[in-house]
Amino acid sequence: MSVQSDMRRLTAPDIRARKGGEPIVMLTSYHAHTASIADKHCDVILVGDSLGMVMHGLETTVPVTLDMMILQGRAVMRGSRRALVVVDMPFGSYEASKEQAFMSAVRVLKETGCGAIKLEGGKRMAETIRFLVERGVPVMAHVGLTPQSINTIGSFRAQGRDEADWGPIEQDTLAVSQAGAFSVVIEAVAEPLARKLTGAVPIPTIGIGASNACDGQVLVMEDMLGLSPRVPKFVKRYGELGPGIDKAIADYAAEVRSRAFPGPQHVYPMKVPKG
Ligand code: KIV
Repeated sequence: MSVQSDMRRLTAPDIRARKGGEPIVMLTSYHAHTASIADKHCDVILVGDSLGMVMHGLETTVPVTLDMMILQGRAVMRGSRRALVVVDMPFGSYEASKEQAFMSAVRVLKETGCGAIKLEGGKRMAETIRFLVERGVPVMAHVGLTPQSINTIGSFRAQGRDEADWGPIEQDTLAVSQAGAFSVVIEAVAEPLARKLTGAVPIPTIGIGASNACDGQVLVMEDMLGLSPRVPKFVKRYGELGPGIDKAIADYAAEVRSRAFPGPQHVYPMKVPKG
């Protein structure tokens, strides 16, 4: 017996088929509650390893583990029904060999039920991407600024702002596309280059600090909601939730201290005896 939901989830091939079509809306989420809100509006929910910085206050994404990603991936799957959920492979879980990448990706797919994984790197990851895709793992690639490489690149700087630097980024994007990635995130890349890359590959490009010409866009939810204290230039704040949360918690604290909360409507009276 099978139990079918009346709502069909979007799949990696559905997203792949959106090349050049209606822009793909992607947003990060790490929790069931925010996932259920994002699910109403987004095509793809990314359980990004940015959760290390956003949820855990880490300086970089380097310390994030596979177990952390799987825990939040499961929460996001429980909270969503329609969007394709993509879970990031964290630093150290896939770079050593294609076999290591496969075993980590299998854990992510089996233990979360998500529809795809994302990994960082271009040419150097092409062989791994091909190996995963041939074995049933849909891969979203990530080129341009790759935050997991912070210790070798030195800073979170935009890439390709000198035309002389375009070559390697173009080769990376072509390599992941040819290896079978169903889409590619292009992060913090000069606008004309991101536009050119979008025209150069047959898979959807998802921009973050890239170009309006990309086939889709992604932002970190907390950044666009105004909850992150510092955000990169490419973030547009669509909300200012920080002051609202601050006021709500200040009001709660004041009412607890003055015994205004809980009021009579927030406590349980005794049952009225029958008869
Ligand atoms: O980890 C993340 O949230 C990401 C996006 C910024 C693309 O990789």
